[in-house]
Amino acid sequence: MRKIIIANWKLNPATLAAAQLLARRIEKVLALISSKRLGRSKKAEMVIAPPFPFLLEVGRILRRSSLGAQDVFWEEKGAYTGAVSPLMLRSLGVRYVIVGHSERRDFAHETDAEINGKIRSALAKGFFVVLCVGEKDRKKENFERFVKQELLLDFQGIPKKYSKKIIIAYEPIWAIGTGKTVRSSDLYEMVMYIRRVLFDIFGKKAAHSIPVLYGGSVNAKNANIFLEVDGVNGLLVGGASLDPEEFLGIVKSVSGV
Ligand code: 13P
Repeated sequence: MRKIIIANWKLNPATLAAAQLLARRIEKVLALISSKRLGRSKKAEMVIAPPFPFLLEVGRILRRSSLGAQDVFWEEKGAYTGAVSPLMLRSLGVRYVIVGHSERRDFAHETDAEINGKIRSALAKGFFVVLCVGEKDRKKENFERFVKQELLLDFQGIPKKYSKKIIIAYEPIWAIGTGKTVRSSDLYEMVMYIRRVLFDIFGKKAAHSIPVLYGGSVNAKNANIFLEVDGVNGLLVGGASLDPEEFLGIVKSVSGV
């Protein structure tokens, strides 16, 4: 299965000019690797997810990567001040939407019912949906049950036919932006567990074919470790995706350069 690397810029950078510069640098990095005829290929799919206001301009720069959005609203139009609909995103060239990121579940108090609505509406409009799941604390809670519950509620009633457009990002909250990362053996077990839950929701084929990514303090040094874990199909990268050098290292890991 091809690997997927998603750059989640979160609330960065500060200006459009800086976002354009970063996008150009990332494209340069990708061009460098393609010119070696190694990374281009069907081996990896790169997705850049800038903040909403920068989508259009960043999208104009991207050639070797696809455009992603960090969120999407469930309604198409109406009295929802500040919301951004799937059709609006599609008209900007967005192909991937991240949904249910733990930061949004936290500061925006997003509920599973809302996340379910977002998934439903984004899938119906043809997006690839990247659903983020992950526990707060491995020691204090039944983390497997927690992740299972997120998957069951967020995918409630989602028809099986959409499974080709679904991607899961396992992002343990304790590993996000902390420098702490999950152990390979724990990641392997969690990915297998997630696939078992996907089996219950969408059936056997989907359980094997839905890509499962890892996210949480990924950088150029450790990317390899996660990518080598059986069943891991890529990475969701935060902080390190804002640094072209780091990103180059990560892309190299996935491309085997
Ligand atoms: P960091 O890579 O900065 O830990 O963030 C991970 C993340 O939340 C990506 O969505």
